Amino acid sequence: MPRDAQGFLVPGVISPKRPVPASIPRPEYVGRSGPRRHDRGDVYSAADIELIREAGRIAAQAVELVGEAIRPGVTTEVLDVIAHEFIVANGAYPSTVGYRGFPKAVCTSINEVICHGIPDDTALSDGDIINVDITAFKNGMHGDLSKTFIVGSVQPEVELLVERTREALERGIKTVAPGRQVNVIGRAIESYAKRFGYGVVRDFTGHGVGASFHSGLIIPHYDAAPAFDDVMEVGMVFTIEPMLTLGTPEHPGIVDWDQWDDDWTVTTKNKSVTAQFEHTLAVTERGADILTLP
Ligand code: MF3
Ligand code: CO
Ligand code: CO
Repeated sequence: MPRDAQGFLVPGVISPKRPVPASIPRPEYVGRSGPRRHDRGDVYSAADIELIREAGRIAAQAVELVGEAIRPGVTTEVLDVIAHEFIVANGAYPSTVGYRGFPKAVCTSINEVICHGIPDDTALSDGDIINVDITAFKNGMHGDLSKTFIVGSVQPEVELLVERTREALERGIKTVAPGRQVNVIGRAIESYAKRFGYGVVRDFTGHGVGASFHSGLIIPHYDAAPAFDDVMEVGMVFTIEPMLTLGTPEHPGIVDWDQWDDDWTVTTKNKSVTAQFEHTLAVTERGADILTLP
């Protein structure tokens, strides 16, 4: 089993790529080294927002289905198969397959893995937490979300981290309103996380999403003002996806990270446990409309 002597994750064996039926339309980056530049802005019509919602609903239902399969002994490879088959059965393309070389339909990020874990033969253990991050592409639009699940029973401090990371996303979403700068979102998230001495990951952010997987618009999860002063507008679509860590009392706040030789898997440098939740949302006159509900 891929864990080291201290129980930390080590790379496992990644299975061959799963096919996507040729009848399912692909995003433009598939079969190329990376995406083309996004050039249509981040504001969408009501009709386009419904298309993003349709992709987002498929992704959200896939996350729920994966969640039902989570238990000790299950491999992340098995979770990937569940997500992949559900997404293609709904006529959608799993956006991460072939995105800058990522091989699988879901990112599975366990314990000290911050994000972008690749499904492999790693089996879940009692006491793990696992983030499941899925994006679906349908009718030319991407919908992107993630949730962190608890495996069996975890330490109380880990359960609290997961619950408070969910709450941090909630608080970020509540700040969304037209006329505000996007940096208000991270201000709310960081001030909440700081109460508990948690680390807030800075180098991976929320992003514009819709016609592109990552549009170039960046949504920080910390108080970045006066930077990141893009003003929210009705119809703007982006993700909020805070990653919080238990951190250490000596070094709260900023989080240092490492990346595995697979060029994807990102872990906390001190191997402290980290959780994440993500939604795609549209800005409305009244606040935020979450587009990634099951
Ligand atoms: N879904 C992730 C996000 O929230 C991106 C994953 S890209 C991958 O932005 F290539 F790692 F899958
Ligand atoms: Co995501
Ligand atoms: Co995202």
